[in-house]
Amino acid sequence: MIELKGIEKTYLRGSEEVHALKGIDMKISKGEFISIVGPSGSGKTSLLHVLGCLDRPSKGSLLIDGVAVEKMREDELVRIRRKKIGFVFQQFYLMPGLTVFDNIALPLVFSRTAIDKEKIIGAIELLGLKGRIEHYPKQLSGGEMQRVAIARALVNGPEIILADEPTGNLDSENSENIFELLKSLHKNSLTVIMVTHNNDLAARADRTLLLKDGRFPG
Ligand SMILES: Nc1ncnc2c1ncn2[C@@H]1O[C@H](COP(=O)(O)OP(=O)(O)O)[C@@H](O)[C@H]1O
Ligand SMILES: [Mg+2]
Repeated sequence: MIELKGIEKTYLRGSEEVHALKGIDMKISKGEFISIVGPSGSGKTSLLHVLGCLDRPSKGSLLIDGVAVEKMREDELVRIRRKKIGFVFQQFYLMPGLTVFDNIALPLVFSRTAIDKEKIIGAIELLGLKGRIEHYPKQLSGGEMQRVAIARALVNGPEIILADEPTGNLDSENSENIFELLKSLHKNSLTVIMVTHNNDLAARADRTLLLKDGRFPG
C-alpha cells in the first residue's frame, strides 16, 4: 500500500547541501507494524515526514495506494494527509489553551468535519482518559498527554499512524503502555510506523528497519 522508490531528501543549510536521505527503497503492506531505528541524524524524521506527505522528496517516488504522491498539488497532499495519516510526536504538541476534548477534536475543525461528540468521548474512554475530558494539558501526566495526542491522531480515521519517538519523553512504564496502545490499534488493521531509540520496543514490531546515514544498509 505504501511504496518508496529511490527516495532522496536534500536540505539546504546556508549554501551547504545536507543529504538526509540517499536513496530509500521500501514497501509497506497494509496493517504492518514497522519500527525504524538508527543513530541521531540518520534521517529517521526526514523519512517519516516524506512518508506522511509533510515534506516532498527531493528525488524518487512515493506511492500511496498506487498513487504517486510527489506529483500532487499542495491541496491534494493536504487532503491525503488529513484523510489517511495520523502523526504522533515525541513532544506531544498539544494546544495548552484547549481541553483534552478540544485538543482531540481539533483535526476535525481543520478538516471541516462535523464533531461527533459521542465518538470523541468514546475514543477518550477507550484510551483510558475518562475523567480527563475537561482537563488542560498541563494537568496531565506525560503518558496521558501522549494518549491525548494518539486520540487526536486517530480522530479523522487514518489508515496509517506515523510516530516519531512517541515514547522518547516517557518513563519505562508509560513507554510500555503507549507501545501496547499502538500495537492494539495496529491489530485493528491500522498501519503503524514508529521511530524509536528503544531497542526492546523496536524488536517487538513486525519488522525493524535500521537507518544509517540516510540509507537502509544491506
Ligand atoms: N530542515 C532541515 N534543514 C537542514 N538540515 C536538516 C533539516 N532537517 C534535518 N536536517 C539534517 O538532516 C539530517 C537528518 O536529520 P533527521 O531526519 O532529523 O534525522 P534523525 O531523525 O534520524 O535524527 C541531519 O544531518 C539533520 O541535521
Ligand atoms: Mg528525529
